[in-house]
Amino acid sequence: MIQEQISQYTEEINAFATSDAEQLEQFRIKFLGTKGIIKDIFDQFKAVSPEEKRTLGKVLNSFKQLAEEKYNTLKETLEAHAGPGAAAQIDLTLPGEGYEIGSRHPLALVRREIIAIFTKLGFSVAEGPEIEDDWHNFSALNFPEEHPARDMQDTFFIRKGGENGDIALRTHTSSVQVRMMEAGQPPFRALMPGRVYRNEAISARAHCFFHQIEGLYVDENVSFADLKQTLFYFVQELYGEGTKVRFRPSYFPFTEPSAEMDISCSICKGDGCQMCKQSGWVEILGCGMVDPNVLENCGIDSKKYSGFAFGMGIERIANLKFEIKDLRLFSENDVRFLKQYQSVLS
Ligand code: DAH
Repeated sequence: MIQEQISQYTEEINAFATSDAEQLEQFRIKFLGTKGIIKDIFDQFKAVSPEEKRTLGKVLNSFKQLAEEKYNTLKETLEAHAGPGAAAQIDLTLPGEGYEIGSRHPLALVRREIIAIFTKLGFSVAEGPEIEDDWHNFSALNFPEEHPARDMQDTFFIRKGGENGDIALRTHTSSVQVRMMEAGQPPFRALMPGRVYRNEAISARAHCFFHQIEGLYVDENVSFADLKQTLFYFVQELYGEGTKVRFRPSYFPFTEPSAEMDISCSICKGDGCQMCKQSGWVEILGCGMVDPNVLENCGIDSKKYSGFAFGMGIERIANLKFEIKDLRLFSENDVRFLKQYQSVLS
């Protein structure tokens, strides 16, 4: 009985050929499946007499081998023809996924716009280190030793004492003024953008780091009128014609006289809103005439030369321009925030 079945199925197996995955699977189920023919014949084999088992065992094993080999060869040919893409059913005619173009950070946009405005007035761009010594960040800028003015800015010190005095993360970009003036002689006409650090608790209105742009103009006969006109022009370019400015007397150790400059609120146009705390005015920068002591500290003849300087926070300018109310957004790298600014400015 078993013998007959085997020779009948051997013929069927030898004759079987297919290039269709479904048919091959049917073949596997029929012969090699858990309820398939081979399993069935093996079950019958258990009942056979011991003498018969000796001869029949071999035949049965090679029959099983035949079915397995047939299945494996057909499967290999099928896969080779199908290729890698076909197995996963990929539709190669579908359009691909495009790469999204990144955008400039809103602070970079504002920095570039400010630089572009001052470039028209002949200002160049200079940079300095973020880790500074006491001389460049404080002493050369006329902050007396132990003077409370040093507490105006909460400093992150890296090293106290030592050969060059304290080493700290710069608290303002005014340090770059010193580096620039030490390295040459007037005229100087430069913008100095960069990151600054202050030891402040992080909130919507304060951060432990932010960005400033410093401006410096030193030459013969530079007066406060030059300072006013330069900044007035800047504001008209940045916030539009008709933006008003006002100067309030202030104090900085490195300028004399010193002032803070307000502009008419660019959001409510002076009517009063949350951004200007209902006053119609917002402060955007500090400025003044470079103190003669600072010029002398940097090796510049204060009898021959005079100059003005100013410093502004880029976040501040960006907040006003884009009506951003939380400073933390600038450093969180949330793409949903960042990509809103891609086409606002070039
Ligand atoms: N360094 C000042 C600050 O961080 C800003 C400043 C004020 C810069 C007046 C200047 C200036 O150059 O003249 O608060």
